[in-house]
Amino acid sequence: MRVLSGIQPSGQLHLGNYFGMMKPVIAFQEEAEVYIFIANYHALTSVQDPEALRQGTVDVALDFLACGLDPQKAVFYRQSDLPEVTELTWLLSTVTPMGLLERCHSYKDKTARGIAANHGLFAYPVLMTADILAVQADVVPVGKDQKQHLEVARDIAIKFNHGYGDIFTVPEPRIAEEVAVIPGLDGQKMSKSYDNTIEIFGDPKPTRKKIMRIVTDSKSLEEPKDPDSSTIFKLYRLLATAEETEELAGRYREGGMGYGDAKKALAEVFERTFGPLREQRAALATDPGSVEAVLADGAGRAREVIGETLQRARRAMGIE
Ligand code: ADP
Ligand code: TRP
Repeated sequence: MRVLSGIQPSGQLHLGNYFGMMKPVIAFQEEAEVYIFIANYHALTSVQDPEALRQGTVDVALDFLACGLDPQKAVFYRQSDLPEVTELTWLLSTVTPMGLLERCHSYKDKTARGIAANHGLFAYPVLMTADILAVQADVVPVGKDQKQHLEVARDIAIKFNHGYGDIFTVPEPRIAEEVAVIPGLDGQKMSKSYDNTIEIFGDPKPTRKKIMRIVTDSKSLEEPKDPDSSTIFKLYRLLATAEETEELAGRYREGGMGYGDAKKALAEVFERTFGPLREQRAALATDPGSVEAVLADGAGRAREVIGETLQRARRAMGIE
């Protein structure tokens, strides 16, 4: 089985990214052929500061390596190192109906929020389709917000195969239900667009402050509380052991515990999880050459598969 996922280097990674995408895709490296890439071409649709884009790309590489991506097991590369993918994007765009792209929520939401639409934003799902089809991925682990983009990828693959013969694997999304939508500080979906994120590699003090700012209802300390509707608890259960989770749920239901205490418990399990990874990340950051070497090696390995796919697509279409 071949698994692929990618992430844009367009801001510091947060708990939503970690549980929605990073952790699931990294876990696959033990059992499948895994491709993980940094989508810097996609990020151009929102990051127009060249230095920020360059730095963001290095940061994402460090984040993934610190979180356990093993470059011996997974193929880890930078999207722009494989221009074959952008060529495939053009080939695919000639079989992509306009209506398919016009229906995409992420494009519609952005334009509705007043972000000026450029062609890159509109064509974003076709580039994403090329990322996926280029490696012939069977499975794509992503958060729920990417589900529609996966449907676009499937539609394009099916349409291409129908017209030109069976060239592409039709990919399946893999969306873990329990982590489908990680809530942010205000209880809405955690997203950098909503300014409600908890960064996984932020400095410890401001991160703790953010955790203490999670919005709660106004129940008094004595009142029993419902763990399942509490943002603090929803995040706690992702980071704590099963016993710790049961115990905190009990304290919620009994009453006599304030939300402040629950936040402190969350801050503790957060630090227990990410403190050691932060140290690992700092150690890796002292050797930028080795990170570059990992990405260069990944690009070489990705090219073996992607080059072949591109050639087959070109032949099928009459380009060679
Ligand atoms: P953001 O919403 O902060 O801009 P991205 O859209 O860059 O995040 O998401 C990158 C990856 O992380 C995608 O696979 C996405 O589905 C996943 N993801 C982002 N936020 C969440 C969340 N709150 N819950 C679950 N998955 C998420
Ligand atoms: N659109 C994805 C996001 O914003 C990133 C991405 C680009 C991606 N290409 C991909 C994810 C291919 C999975 C597969 O999160």
